[in-house]
Amino acid sequence: MSAGIITMAYLVASILFILALGGLSHQETARKGNYYGMTGMGIALLATIIGIVTANYTLMLGCIVVGGAIGLVLAKKVEMTQMPELVAILHSLVGLAAVIVGFGTFLDHSFTFTGVEKTIHDVEIYLGILIGALTFSGSVIAYLKLSAKIGGSPLLLPGRHFLNLGLLLVAIYYLVQFTGAENQTYALHCLMVMTAISLVFGIHMVMAIGGADMPVVVSMLNSYSGWAAAATGFMLSNDLLIVIGALVGSSGAILSYIMCRAMNRKFLSVIAGGFGTTSSKGGAAAGASGSAEDVQPIDAESVANMLLASKKVMILPGYGMAVAQAQHSVFEMSRKLREAGVDVGFGIHPVAGRMPGHMNVLLAEARVPYDIVYEMEEINDDFPDVDVSIVIGANDIVNPAAKEVPDSPIAGMPVLEPWLGKTTIVLKRSMASGYAGVDNPLFYKENTRMLFGDAKESIDEVLKNL
Ligand code: TAP
Repeated sequence: MSAGIITMAYLVASILFILALGGLSHQETARKGNYYGMTGMGIALLATIIGIVTANYTLMLGCIVVGGAIGLVLAKKVEMTQMPELVAILHSLVGLAAVIVGFGTFLDHSFTFTGVEKTIHDVEIYLGILIGALTFSGSVIAYLKLSAKIGGSPLLLPGRHFLNLGLLLVAIYYLVQFTGAENQTYALHCLMVMTAISLVFGIHMVMAIGGADMPVVVSMLNSYSGWAAAATGFMLSNDLLIVIGALVGSSGAILSYIMCRAMNRKFLSVIAGGFGTTSSKGGAAAGASGSAEDVQPIDAESVANMLLASKKVMILPGYGMAVAQAQHSVFEMSRKLREAGVDVGFGIHPVAGRMPGHMNVLLAEARVPYDIVYEMEEINDDFPDVDVSIVIGANDIVNPAAKEVPDSPIAGMPVLEPWLGKTTIVLKRSMASGYAGVDNPLFYKENTRMLFGDAKESIDEVLKNL
């Protein structure tokens, strides 16, 4: 295959990957985005196998068949709820690949370069292995935490920030030693020490982060895996790998940023870890605090009557809907109400649940039509016209303390504002706080009613009465 055809194939693949990312940003186009990505990857693989690889075809094809079969079985078996774990373990493989390619490139070529070219090449190898190793070990720990094979609570070692700083300084010291090494044996020694340090750093960094912050960490590791792939691209002088790595690296970083902004948390404070360990300490400072006696309960029959008498109903799902697996019942309720002529919409907060797009995925699974699912910014101004908002297992994302109590731990977090409507009905099991451990003044408002119980059981009960 001529160099021109390979370049052309790589260019087409790069464009398809960009279209894939564009498609994935909307529910309606996500499926198309996936097809673009698959086609791009198919073209990239074919161009590389036919055009660039020159030997070891049997070994390579054997590996492709075995790896492809494992991927196929895993993807078919995985439940929707296990998706973050699968993503985490796949990131670990990208990291591992970067480490192996880094060592291979070093052993093959390193001392064939001289001068500035050698320094640049050495830095590429060093950074590729460093990012790859910490992505590998960090992703393995993220997988173990997400699959509950180890505990989700953060491990907070005394002086942990100093430990991280120390590891960084040693890694920099060995970078200087590595680039100036006189012989391959000492250079290899430097690389191995740095690899061990990076592995420890990856483990320590993710161990310090609480289970519920893991989605931010997974998206950050996604970003790292992209940079590791880009570094591998530099080592192998493969333009397509550099482009794909940069796309994955930057999109992962942007997603982490969007998630942190929607939670009103600094990225560094998520990475520094420890959030959620103080439970409801911030509760009193956060606003109203009270017990079940201070709120106005309601029963399912009254909820059904109230809904049928409404013109406009807004459904606001949160993490509790996922826990209760109530999405199908919620869809059924929305269908019945729409048949009865009620205008029903769904309002989605960007960090509702525990992973990006968590609610969108559940609602899509239950076949809720996309055109009645709104983003927070699209519907927040509409609440004064809403007759009934039903909050299903959501807490922090509808907490007025974020707007009204300046010293609340969630102050400044953008929230859905159902209290501006006529009535809010909150479905939850108890008066317990949500992920942020903050009490919620919404529950005590004059126009709020509480329907206590498991969200699925409560909705099924409402359905019976509709
Ligand atoms: P939360 O604030 O965690 O509240 C969920 C509520 O659901 C709880 O108050 C709980 O109350 C209720 N619940 C649990 N199981 C239930 C069940 N079976 N039936 C009925 N209710 C149930 O959730 P949210 O409002 O969705 O907010 C998400 C939070 O997670 C935010 O603080 C966000 O910053 C954080 N977070 C999100 C992400 C992403 S990317 N989505 C990532 C990291 C962190 P009871 O126990 O009383 O039932």
